[in-house]
Amino acid sequence: MEFHDILQKRRTVRLYQQKKVEKEKIISLLNAARLSSCAMNKQGLRYAAVTEKNMLKKIFNGTLWAALVKPYRTPVWGESAPDCFIVVHGPAEKNASYVKFDVGAAVMSMELQACDLGLGCCWLGSFDHEEVKNLLKLDENRQVYAVVAVGYPAEEPQYKDIKLNEDQSYYLDDNKRLTVPKYTVDAVAEFYEE
Ligand SMILES: Cc1cc2nc3c(=O)[nH]c(=O)nc-3n(C[C@H](O)[C@H](O)[C@H](O)COP(=O)(O)O)c2cc1C
Repeated sequence: MEFHDILQKRRTVRLYQQKKVEKEKIISLLNAARLSSCAMNKQGLRYAAVTEKNMLKKIFNGTLWAALVKPYRTPVWGESAPDCFIVVHGPAEKNASYVKFDVGAAVMSMELQACDLGLGCCWLGSFDHEEVKNLLKLDENRQVYAVVAVGYPAEEPQYKDIKLNEDQSYYLDDNKRLTVPKYTVDAVAEFYEE
């Protein structure tokens, strides 16, 4: 896919086909993550790719999805849940002021790569941190920063350009398609030109 098309097409996906994601594809996402920009090139992030069903379900049970359109984009275990979670963890916050930026870069790279491979992702900030930490047996020096759901999409969200005075809340359109308003370039950028 052309990069421009990936940028247009990549939307957060929250409903998934019950289809296995091939390990090579998961490795491609991890490859995208590890090649991403990070402060001072420290590379303190680590990734846990979880497809084992018991662990998957335990993580799934602690997640919260699409609060603005609840319950229509809340996946159901066994029906529309993701096949994989990629957990992103790093040094605990107190000594690690740049880590969250690194996480953003890594997760975005994975989302773009996933889109190019026909997969969908949801970056989850709402999850049971303690449960995930315990499952992965992480000590107190590590912090879980993100959980990324991965699977074959069972929905095709779209974006819609909006002006600065319009509501940016995502919603379901008349066809129940998830629609994500995005401010235009004119709304969010200024130019300082010759
Ligand atoms: C830091 C961060 C945390 C997020 N946490 C959640 C979450 O817990 N649950 C959820 O359903 N979506 C979550 N999202 C997804 C956002 O809702 C989504 O990116 C936003 O609505 C824009 O949609 P788009 O990704 O299609 O552009 C999160 C996104 C980011 C960047």
